[in-house]
This record gives sequence, C-alpha cells and structure tokens, in this order.
Amino acid sequence: MPKMTFIEKDGNPLEVDAPNGLSVMEISHKHGVDIEGACGGCLACATCHVVVHPDWYGKLAEKKDEEDDMLDLAFDLKKTSRLGCQILMSDKLDGLVVALPGAKAPWEE
Ligand code: FES
Repeated sequence: MPKMTFIEKDGNPLEVDAPNGLSVMEISHKHGVDIEGACGGCLACATCHVVVHPDWYGKLAEKKDEEDDMLDLAFDLKKTSRLGCQILMSDKLDGLVVALPGAKAPWEE
C-alpha cells in the first residue's frame, strides 16, 4: 500500500498508510491528523488546505479553477498549496509529503 507523510503543526512528520483512491483529506481523518474538511470534499471550503512538498507538487493532477478560487480563501497560502480533498492517492504518489498550514515545513527556510 502507498504511504504518505503529514508534517504536523509542531513540525513533526507522521507517516501513514495511504490507500489508493482516497483523498489526502480522507487519509488525514483516518489517522487523526488535524485537517478539517468541512464540506466533505465538494470544493466548498478551504479547510482541507495542505502545503505540498515542492518535489511532489508537479506530480499532482492539474488544479480545477474551482480549487484555485477556494484556495484564495485559505490561511497561510503557499506556492505549493492544494486542497487535500482534490489530491487522490495512487501508486504514483507513494511517498507524498504535505505540511499542514502553519506548520514549519522542513523544506522551508
Ligand atoms: Fe472542502 Fe476540500 S473539504 S474544499
């Protein structure tokens, strides 16, 4: 099964199993990671915002315009920000790393 890592708000990494077909938001909920996902994944909030590791950002599926519009409302927006409900896990993304907004990501200065 693919794995992924969340950088939590305290900066610590948490590696978890990441079943194919589940979104990053759904995976966070299975493991008690603090990502809200208030709208349940229908692009009507920005509470599933995650900051993707730059090495992984280009490997994700393209953003829809609706995702960009919602991201504009997100807290601590970064160049590699995405909505967690729009990133679907697959073998291609095995090893994906994302940080929670507000976390001090190890790849940042
Ligand atoms: Fe609301 Fe992702 S859960 S936009």
